Amino acid sequence: MAIVSSNNDRNNSNLPFRKSRVLAASALPEDVKPPKEDGLRPKTLDDYIGQSALKEVLGIAVKAAIGRGDPLDHVLLYGPPGLGKTTMAFVLAEELGVRCRITSAPALERPRDIVGLLLNLQPREVLFVDEIHRLTRVAEELLYPAMEDGRLDLTVGKGITARTRALDLPPFTLVGATTRAGALSSALRDRFGFTQRLDFYDLKDLKAIVQRAAELLHLPLTAAAAFEIARRCRGTPRIANRLLRRVRDFATVHAREDLIDEVLVDEALKLLNVDKSGLDAIDRRLLEFILRAHGGGPVGLDTLAAALGEDSATLEAVVEPFLLQKGFLQRTPRGRVVTGAARIHLGWQEE
Ligand code: ADE
Repeated sequence: MAIVSSNNDRNNSNLPFRKSRVLAASALPEDVKPPKEDGLRPKTLDDYIGQSALKEVLGIAVKAAIGRGDPLDHVLLYGPPGLGKTTMAFVLAEELGVRCRITSAPALERPRDIVGLLLNLQPREVLFVDEIHRLTRVAEELLYPAMEDGRLDLTVGKGITARTRALDLPPFTLVGATTRAGALSSALRDRFGFTQRLDFYDLKDLKAIVQRAAELLHLPLTAAAAFEIARRCRGTPRIANRLLRRVRDFATVHAREDLIDEVLVDEALKLLNVDKSGLDAIDRRLLEFILRAHGGGPVGLDTLAAALGEDSATLEAVVEPFLLQKGFLQRTPRGRVVTGAARIHLGWQEE
């Protein structure tokens, strides 16, 4: 049973808890809009390029939920950053014809934060919780009955004056996102009706995403230029769109906006230290540290993190997945090992 108590709880006759900052904040329009930076996000499943297995599964589930008038079952999305987890939450809400409320686990530290959010939901709305592996135990325990039975269990007051109250919630869909599915408690994982992994995008889909973005930004981008960005964006649409914007800046400054071709893309990306395979400075530092200081490995994750001045969870969830997928790095029981392909790519070895 979750504990929600403060002196103010007892002073408010209408609410079983104090009206919290989040309760007030969640009424603001910012809370229900996708993050501002990206006008390029697809709005519907049809617009969403790639992740075909994910789209198929969720497309069927959405149709069935609409047909029955039910909320969509809870969805857990996991995978490296930038692959479209937040975007998918907004797409699902759009397809269901409801609003998407957006928050992240670190913002739900106090019980009243999550209570406020849940009590503010309208029927069948989507509640998107980013970094869901970071929920506190108390927050998780408030979520379990909410997800399972549409019930919020509150304990009001303290000590012998404590009373429990169960409040009915409207049916809703929790979309949880994480880069670290393994860090979720199994109790929380079990409460999702769908657990879906997002994979790195292939070149064909990335090229299509870049071309769609170029069209929305009215950029005269050649097919070869779109392909060049696709090749160098670490399999990640968010990076593809970011690179496209940097290429546009470069074209503007050099008065070359009439035609953006692959030569211009190459010049712009070289300036950004993004190499032909899409590796950036931190990727190369990681590989070169293992080669230089450890003869290619194996090296433990904590040693790597300390040497690079990065947090090990970030290295593991953000930096390594692409290097593993490219076949530049291997994980072994004794640590990380740089591959022959990486040696060739970095010029440490002849082809
Ligand atoms: N922009 C970012 N991600 C996208 C996707 N998956 N499909 C279309 N446009 C995108």
